[in-house]
Amino acid sequence: MYVLGVETSCDETAIAIYSGDRGLLAHQIYSQISLHAEYGGVVPELASRDHVRKTMPLIAASLAEAKCQPSDIAGVAYTRGPGLIGALMVGASVARSLAFAWQIPAIGIHHIEAHLMAAMLEPNKPEYPFVTLIVSGGHTMLAYVRGLGKYELLGETLDDAVGEAFDKTAKLLGLPYPGGPALAALAESGVAKRFIFPRPMVNRPGLDFSFSGLKTHAVNVCNEYQLDHQTKADIAHAFEQAVIDTLVIKCKRALAQTSCHSLVVAGGVSANKQLRLQLAAKLAEHSATVYYPRLEYCTDNGAMVAYTGFLRLARGEHDDLSIMPRARWPLCELT
Ligand code: KG4
Ligand code: ZN
Repeated sequence: MYVLGVETSCDETAIAIYSGDRGLLAHQIYSQISLHAEYGGVVPELASRDHVRKTMPLIAASLAEAKCQPSDIAGVAYTRGPGLIGALMVGASVARSLAFAWQIPAIGIHHIEAHLMAAMLEPNKPEYPFVTLIVSGGHTMLAYVRGLGKYELLGETLDDAVGEAFDKTAKLLGLPYPGGPALAALAESGVAKRFIFPRPMVNRPGLDFSFSGLKTHAVNVCNEYQLDHQTKADIAHAFEQAVIDTLVIKCKRALAQTSCHSLVVAGGVSANKQLRLQLAAKLAEHSATVYYPRLEYCTDNGAMVAYTGFLRLARGEHDDLSIMPRARWPLCELT
């Protein structure tokens, strides 16, 4: 079965074709970074309009890349939410219309479930059950995963998501959008321990997070010091290390609480090199294994949507003719 996946939840138009027998056959991404850069963040209306321009050409390019015809496609999967409502609407309308024209089933996919399932595209994939840490621009959560669609929330952020905290702190340091990767790059030349940021909520029991205090701490440090290049790098380093230490502590706690030895890290921030290295090293000390999608499947992509669509369509699931994107959609509602 060939499944076409359509992702338009935010600032990437991404299309992929996944085959149950042959794996990923096409993978096309168009990033809107240059469009939003001058505004310092995503402008929803511009994002929607650009998805309108790019979705169909990328679908044509994906069919060419996979060397297949529309008649080879057996189902269409698209991101139904959560995300920017106008952007979601574009992908959903195109995907649902194509499925109708081609007389094949369509299915709306949960964006966070798709991020999580991206780890299953790797040859070395985890067995269920496992704990997942989702760290994206809009979400930060720990969940216990018994199988596809079987999620139990263990903890979540009470305020900012990790990616959001990276982006806001990067902005304070005058870094260009998207801030996360820029801050991580700057942190590499930072001097460790010149600044010490708090590790929020680690002394309280439970698995919830709070990252808005880190941003406030960054504001205070920025106001106190002359922001030369080295000082900015030192602040970036201290911020990144505080985030990583906090995530490591909570992941260890979640694994102990569930008696699990596998952790899947997903979402845009899972592309962070230091997070990947340090989490793997620290959890190995506790005989736990960390699984990540490869870098290109960490941030938004169509492969994760096509693959999750394939799994759900193969179980006989599909949607009716309605198009109902959801800007907000808690992952555990799928259970
Ligand atoms: O999952 P994603 O691509 O989009 C959402 O669904 O939100 O995540 C985007 C977030 C942004 O906040 C971006 O700054 C962050 O992931 N990000 C990173 C890195 N790469 C992307 N944060 C830290 N280090 C990175 N290398
Ligand atoms: Zn995402």
